[in-house]
Amino acid sequence: MLTAYDYPSGKQAEQAGLDIILVGDSLGMTVLGYDSTVQVTLDDMKHHGKAVRRGANDTFMVVDMPFGAAGVDEKIDMQHAVELYRETKANALKIEGAHTAPLIKKCTQNGIPVVAHLGLTPQSFGITGYKLQAASKEEAETLIEEAKLVEQSGAVMLVLEAIPSDLAATISRNLSIPVIGIGAGADTDGQVLVYHDVLNYGVDRKPKFVKRYGDFTTGVDALKAYHEEVKAGVFPSPEFTYKKQIMDEVDA
Ligand code: KIV
Ligand code: NA
Repeated sequence: MLTAYDYPSGKQAEQAGLDIILVGDSLGMTVLGYDSTVQVTLDDMKHHGKAVRRGANDTFMVVDMPFGAAGVDEKIDMQHAVELYRETKANALKIEGAHTAPLIKKCTQNGIPVVAHLGLTPQSFGITGYKLQAASKEEAETLIEEAKLVEQSGAVMLVLEAIPSDLAATISRNLSIPVIGIGAGADTDGQVLVYHDVLNYGVDRKPKFVKRYGDFTTGVDALKAYHEEVKAGVFPSPEFTYKKQIMDEVDA
């Protein structure tokens, strides 16, 4: 699983053959320049989800329910879920936290597949910070129970973020739904990373669990070269200029 946020990244993820695309609310940071996912709105998720879908029509696409749109008031949450699912043509919605179990159930009953997200849930960073979760015996036991709860509530998949790898392995074994890890070690059923992290594209921070497979910082060199060539009169050369001449025919 890889995140994508717009038409070209969706298209690239599909061309690369990724199994699942996540339109993550991490788009708040990666493409909108906010410093957390808390700023991201339902409209933002709709806008980006629709763009990704246009680039990746044949890939299973999960769209995040943003902060404040789920787990607050069940009736309104449900309206948000219906809108987001319908308008983006997502295959599933992802919802953070075990407290949303009733909403997971309601969505499932109404035909919306839900991916649960436990461990570090970035929408709650104000409470948890950005650090390894479930690092104590009590928290680990709670997480094991929460994972069972979201599965029982109908979740079709579970994302586990920033937890000890042996705990992630146990939860993956315990559950029958696929478990996708990020910062959760090698023993989950799948992995997810953020597009901009994988490609080193406009990100300053590299969390421990991120591996860079490409380097888009070379894009800056390309932009500099363009700027220099225009200033030096090198671009556009004849190769990039239409051959048609008109001024012989024009009275000027
Ligand atoms: O928003 C996101 O990118 C995510 C993944 C990191 C799991 O939720
Ligand atoms: Na997210």
